[in-house]
Amino acid sequence: MRTPIIAGNWKMFKTIAEATDFAKQLTATKAIEGVEQVICAPFTTLSALAGILQGTPYALGAQNVHFADQGAFTGEISPLMLKEIGVKYVIIGHSERRQYFNETDETVNKKVIAALSHGLLPIVCVGESLAEFESGSTEQVVRTQTEAALNGLTSDQVKQVVIAYEPIWAIGTGKSSTAEDANKTIGYIRGCVERAFGAEAAAAIRIQYGGSVKPDNIEGYLRQSDIDGALVGGASLTVDGFVQLVAGAS
Ligand code: G3H
Repeated sequence: MRTPIIAGNWKMFKTIAEATDFAKQLTATKAIEGVEQVICAPFTTLSALAGILQGTPYALGAQNVHFADQGAFTGEISPLMLKEIGVKYVIIGHSERRQYFNETDETVNKKVIAALSHGLLPIVCVGESLAEFESGSTEQVVRTQTEAALNGLTSDQVKQVVIAYEPIWAIGTGKSSTAEDANKTIGYIRGCVERAFGAEAAAAIRIQYGGSVKPDNIEGYLRQSDIDGALVGGASLTVDGFVQLVAGAS
């Protein structure tokens, strides 16, 4: 009943020329149905991509957003600006932003609220570090991050959110969580959503796995009961890779 969602997170890769080339190639291939497909691209490429992806099955996503509509925030991009371009999704609280750009649970929550109030759909990232994994704190970490990110939302708003569970130690390392372990943690996150927002919201919210997902391991994740898709970095950078990931989720 939950439509799987595959989101490619290009991170800080691709110029406008490269992004345009990718989108033209992707839209020229036969689209796979039954899977929601999102490209989360660098800010500079979004306008060009919007022109190519409009009216296709591929939704556009950004990788960050500020929580204010406008203001003296040098270097930032507001939800209004993303909405104006035609962006549908926005990644919020990716571990790289938490680690390198001082993103906190509080700013994540403000951004989630701001995104939803402008009709942008948040992909909220949660996940534990290697030390937290090794000390057995995974559930405590994801519970704190999930509850903080969704704080103050209505259960109807929660249904529109996508959560991406990304163990930090699995990102870009080739060391992925087993499908069973990822499903267990994602089931736990769904339980946290149920306790805070009720069974209907928990049944509706989509929760992805992310961390070294590749065409050859995606099917194992998507077969699990609680995993509704994947947030993919490296393997989403080529058209072939992206298409194979979507095929694996279909
Ligand atoms: O947002 C995507 C994640 O950080 C995963 O990246 O697929 O390159 O491990 P990766």
